[in-house]
Amino acid sequence: MRVRRALLHDASNVYDLVNSMSGDGTLLKRPFAEICENIRDFTVAESDSGVFLGCGALHLYGPHLCEVRSIVVKAGAKGKGAGGAILKALIEEAEEHGIHSVCLFTRIPDFFFKYGFRVVEDKSELPDKIFKDCQNCPRLQRCDEVSMVRGRIPRVSILGDKQDAQELVKITV
Ligand SMILES: CC(C)(COP(=O)(O)OP(=O)(O)OC[C@H]1O[C@@H](n2cnc3c(N)ncnc32)[C@H](O)[C@@H]1OP(=O)(O)O)[C@@H](O)C(=O)NCCC(=O)NCCS
Repeated sequence: MRVRRALLHDASNVYDLVNSMSGDGTLLKRPFAEICENIRDFTVAESDSGVFLGCGALHLYGPHLCEVRSIVVKAGAKGKGAGGAILKALIEEAEEHGIHSVCLFTRIPDFFFKYGFRVVEDKSELPDKIFKDCQNCPRLQRCDEVSMVRGRIPRVSILGDKQDAQELVKITV
């Protein structure tokens, strides 16, 4: 198994796998055009013979924050190290960019604890994530995801401020 940065020809595999997990809200649904536009965010895992096994993406908000998104491994390939390898590659990528805060929202925090993530009790501590995804999310009022960060919680944001994020998050409780 090996992990590498995605290329455009990976987009259909990424699209199929990510959207296969979006029906129950495990992952955010992502249109094919959006996957293509953001393919350079993605890392893929593949078998030694080049069979696609899984993917994950690192979205950059700015020097203060990035986010692990769309991390998923094909059903038959789970439990063999691909997910962990993808996540480690994304963390290394964040470090290469000099970004010290990596966030994510998840239903499986136990997987991420192993890689240095911790729970952020107050989601409004991550206003950029709230304004990028949550405010338009159909589950805004019944969010069942845990917010997590690796590294420090950023002091700045670029998409909205903490006070406005608190107003939105209030709706969710
Ligand atoms: C989560 C997921 C990416 C893990 O991929 P994977 O290839 O099965 O994981 P790995 O084999 O690399 O496991 C790495 C470690 O994490 C643990 N782990 C794997 N899945 C886990 C889970 N759901 N909860 C807790 N720990 C988990 C493994 O036991 C292993 O621990 P170890 O190093 O102590 O042995 C995969 O199960 C998946 O695609 N899940 C569905 C999509 C999803 O929920 N993505 C997260 C959205 S935020």
